[in-house]
Amino acid sequence: MAGDVSGKRVLVTASSRGIGFNIARELLIRGARVTINSRNPENLSRALEKLERYGVAHGVRGDLRKREDLEKLLSTSWKLMNGIDALVWNAPNVSCEPCFLHEANYDDWVEAALIHSVAPGYLSSLLVERWLRERTNGTIIYLSSASVKEPMPPLVLADVSRAGLIQLAKGLSRNYGKKGIRAYAVLLGSFDTPGARKNLLEVSRIKGEPFGETWKREVLNRTPLHRTGKWEELGSLLTFLLSRDAEYLLGSTLLMDGAMTRAVML
Ligand SMILES: NC(=O)c1ccc[n+]([C@@H]2O[C@H](COP(=O)([O-])OP(=O)(O)OC[C@H]3O[C@@H](n4cnc5c(N)ncnc54)[C@H](OP(=O)(O)O)[C@@H]3O)[C@@H](O)[C@H]2O)c1
Repeated sequence: MAGDVSGKRVLVTASSRGIGFNIARELLIRGARVTINSRNPENLSRALEKLERYGVAHGVRGDLRKREDLEKLLSTSWKLMNGIDALVWNAPNVSCEPCFLHEANYDDWVEAALIHSVAPGYLSSLLVERWLRERTNGTIIYLSSASVKEPMPPLVLADVSRAGLIQLAKGLSRNYGKKGIRAYAVLLGSFDTPGARKNLLEVSRIKGEPFGETWKREVLNRTPLHRTGKWEELGSLLTFLLSRDAEYLLGSTLLMDGAMTRAVML
């Protein structure tokens, strides 16, 4: 896949481990400058140490559920990188996951809305306002999940709340595309992360079966490829979307799930 991110200044949220961390590493390898973020300062320092050998990475501590942290995340990242060319929005997991509808309380719903709707929406408002003020181009990629297309019951809170990211990508692109501001949504299938393993460990505990059986059924056997997504594959897709080569895909939602979902149309 084509594309070039060398020299681009990219903020990747929720990135001390898992999907966010691996995206940061892939972008660094391809020559971008990256700011990562998480709540926990020790996790953030450990992640920065691991990223050091790949390129220039900065870290900003911040809880994506808090308004003041979102504002600080943006202003500090802008200062550290002397601008922001792109945001890769990656969300944390809702604390109660795996969490069925009948198990969720009011606070769980509020947390899901803060994480998957308010935070990406507000960060987008702040960033687009800044890009317009500075008269610069910018790109936002909203990472979401294939389960938005084909629901998975234990992820219902997240999926209801992040379904709107498809709207955000299209609406933002239609409104600001002529100013060089682009957005995309990417619906991900399964990636091998600490978060995914934690969720499935809980499922295996509830079902009373060995973890390996749960992983095989819920992850590997759901695609004809019998594997999870590779970080290089995701890195290549994001590199392409961040580059001008993807301009005419403006506002699109892409599905990267190894044909895990059965439905044909997006
Ligand atoms: N893995 C998959 O197969 C898959 C597939 C589709 C979609 N997703 C979605 O992708 C997202 C990331 O999943 P993952 O598997 O990479 O999770 P993960 O391995 O648990 O990593 C989560 C990251 O979020 C950070 N974090 C947690 N709470 C935070 C908060 N309030 N503010 C800022 N950062 C916070 C964590 O760092 P600290 O603990 O240091 O704060 C960590 O860096 C989730 O929304 C998940 O639903 C995952």
